Amino acid sequence: MKVLIMYGMAGDVNVQGEEVKKLDVLANDLFINMLSSSYSTCLMVSEENTTVIEVEKERQGKYVVCFDPLDGSSNIDCLVSIGSIFSIYRKTTESEPNVSDALQPGNQLVAAGYALYGSATMMVISTGNGVNGFMLDPSIGEFVLTDPSMTIKERGKIYSLNEGYANLWDPAVTEYVKGKKAKKAGARYIGSMVADVHRTIKYGGIFMYPATSDTPKGKLRLLYECIPMAFLVQQAGGKATTGKMPILDIQPTDIHQRVPIFLGSSGDVQDVIDLYKKHGL
Ligand code: AHM
Ligand code: MG
Repeated sequence: MKVLIMYGMAGDVNVQGEEVKKLDVLANDLFINMLSSSYSTCLMVSEENTTVIEVEKERQGKYVVCFDPLDGSSNIDCLVSIGSIFSIYRKTTESEPNVSDALQPGNQLVAAGYALYGSATMMVISTGNGVNGFMLDPSIGEFVLTDPSMTIKERGKIYSLNEGYANLWDPAVTEYVKGKKAKKAGARYIGSMVADVHRTIKYGGIFMYPATSDTPKGKLRLLYECIPMAFLVQQAGGKATTGKMPILDIQPTDIHQRVPIFLGSSGDVQDVIDLYKKHGL
């Protein structure tokens, strides 16, 4: 029997104080290299880079791509599913590519998608005309359309959030989750956004990463986590909100901005919106 020695998965800490794993770095390099050599992109925003990345002049195209190259990477070492998330905008200004080209609201998106590395590898994408899912068939090295026209149920039985922060929630979230428990809803939380959102699209229900009293803007990033997922969920017939406004209507002001998010079955998300109104939040 041959034993292969793999390099360690442990990593460093980035400028924002977050742990960066080796796979994060590999995935980020891959995204940047592939997009830079595609001749279709002029500007990139990556979770792993503090500032925007400009493609060299001769290779610039008309699109701006925002991505989280490997989301949920705290799950790598225990082999739980992780994923990649991206959104694509058209550059609308005549100027040299700069940060303002990336600060576009989600309602201007051209396309968005994610890849989920789970029990199979799946890519889910939308170009603004519904959502399609493609599973990787390793025997032919191609993504095959297995989930055409994905839609989310109007209501679902599952709620998904990190209940460890329950003492820090606002009254609307507290009341909502209490209501879910009273109805004996199923609780599922992977802690890997792509996997949690994929389950929400497939089975229905609601995924939440709300604000807490010590993180008033929540955790998840607007440009490359919340906007692409909100776009996909809406394209599948669901809803995505901060509780107070639709995610896709937010005008970004910072490339690494965070927002609270509730997304999934439209009836379930509407209940959250109604509770935010009821509590005057
Ligand atoms: P990351 O981009 O550093 O991987 O963090 C994002 C991840 C999401 O995939 C997931 O929804 C969330 O963090 C889980 O956070 P928590 O551990 O606070 O529940
Ligand atoms: Mg992330």
